[in-house]
Amino acid sequence: MVDLTDFDRMQAAALAGGGEDQAAKQHQKGKRTARERIAALLDAGTFTELDRFVSARGSSTEADPSRPLTDGVITGWGKIDGRQVFLFAQDFTILGGSVGESHGRKIAKVMDLALQNGAPLIGLNDSGGARIQEGVDALAAYGEIFLRNTRASGVIPQLSVILGPCAGGAVYSPAITDFVFMVEKTSYMFITGPDVVKSVTHEEVDADSLGGAWAHRALSGVAHFTAPDEDSLLAQVHRVLSFLPSNNLDQPPYLPPRDGARETPELGEIIPQEPNKPYDVHQVIGALCDEGDFLEIQPEFARNLVIGFARLNGSPIGVVANQPDFLAGVLDIDASDKAARFIRFCDAFHIPLVTLVDTPGFLPGVDQEHGGVIRHGAKMIYAYAEASVPKLSLILRKAYGGAYIVMSSKHLGGDVNLALPAAEIAVMGPEGAVQILHRKAIAAAEDPAAKTQELTRRYREQLANPYIAASRGYLDDVIAPAAARGRLIDALESVQAKRQPAPQRKHGNIPL
Ligand code: HXC
Repeated sequence: MVDLTDFDRMQAAALAGGGEDQAAKQHQKGKRTARERIAALLDAGTFTELDRFVSARGSSTEADPSRPLTDGVITGWGKIDGRQVFLFAQDFTILGGSVGESHGRKIAKVMDLALQNGAPLIGLNDSGGARIQEGVDALAAYGEIFLRNTRASGVIPQLSVILGPCAGGAVYSPAITDFVFMVEKTSYMFITGPDVVKSVTHEEVDADSLGGAWAHRALSGVAHFTAPDEDSLLAQVHRVLSFLPSNNLDQPPYLPPRDGARETPELGEIIPQEPNKPYDVHQVIGALCDEGDFLEIQPEFARNLVIGFARLNGSPIGVVANQPDFLAGVLDIDASDKAARFIRFCDAFHIPLVTLVDTPGFLPGVDQEHGGVIRHGAKMIYAYAEASVPKLSLILRKAYGGAYIVMSSKHLGGDVNLALPAAEIAVMGPEGAVQILHRKAIAAAEDPAAKTQELTRRYREQLANPYIAASRGYLDDVIAPAAARGRLIDALESVQAKRQPAPQRKHGNIPL
């Protein structure tokens, strides 16, 4: 009979984490332990742990409290909805989940496995950052992680779930990954915490206001998804993965459609005839996509532009839509950044893009100009032009000026470009154009308001109607609202096998 005494003792030590008191502290803060999180995230019974007998700086044969087994991070693989993933979960109960040499090596190992095996990598972050006692070795560990995040970018999806502190340079690993998830009240991300902020800038701010879930979902755009508790946040991880392929060589997961190519006459009701009247583009997206099911990304950041995942007849798509309900759907710095990064994600993972256009153009203003709207807007142009996935667009109403070109136009390589009959495509909106073209005539008119109205009507008819663009082939068709979903499905099926060879080069130089 084999003596399992040592094995049982070591196994118990590895499973114990930082002990019951530390686990109780986690629970008091409304947080789960690392092992509880893994159990909540993965399909039951699918987790295989790696490196549980690793401890700080080398091996330990005793349960040494100064060098606890696992070194404060649980790593391994398992399944989510039957699909392979690799993951790490930092264990705050051990040395505050701080990253030392061994801790970093464990994460690097599981990242290498994820990349080599073409499966998503999920990081559950809850850490005091670089382990102070380990000095430069702790910093080195972070560098190794950043390197791997970058090499895996565009090859496997990388999701970062922030479930506690994430401070200092540690924030840059999540920032390199594709999607950042944050739980409200118990997670925060910042380069320097409230104390440093106070000593340097004399600003008084608490951790949650500085770098909590709300700050990053509404103001900075760092967080893509947030939730009030850990369970609902982890449910969002499942939902995001349901739209993604496991790697850049796989196709996104197809689901048998349940509502087919139904007609969408409601678009005629949702989109007002009046060119400047607001409406909620979510209603349009809901009407167009399968079962109205839309997973919005960064819903509170740059609300003038809506992005997210949906399906068309079972195939995942990335939706980019101007939002006339917020700032009239104008394009600005944040909207450009938001769109550009999403477009590049979709392009890397074969997710076709569907762009819904209704925008008066780029936002004028000193803040925007000095903030670099030129540089940021250029990202969006670059991203659309570079993307070689199928690109479909539907102009719902206004497409003026640069925004017409930017929003997936034929000229940037749009594959199928459609417009509704009420679409207006022109160098600028009628109000501005009429003033520039007819200032003298308006000033000389007996009734300048009536003259302006008349000239505006003529401008719309003669220079802005969609049949001009259609007559040049810049639009492939002008379609009835009821046909919109059917035509997008048909277009997607027709261009799904698209191949677009790119010129040989090391990489382009996207204006960052
Ligand atoms: C070593 C650490 C640690 C760290 C926390 N602990 N952070 N040990 N290195 N970086 C330990 C604590 O000593 C404590 O040990 C246990 O973890 C729990 O921490 P508490 O402070 O009791 O918890 P809490 O009150 O919840 O506060 C959590 C915290 C705080 C806000 C994260 O611990 C903190 O401010 N830590 C330092 C954060 C930081 O500045 N990190 C360096 C960032 S710079 P005991 O034994 O008492 O239980 C960085 C550079 C990365 O990370 C560079 C990458 C390029």
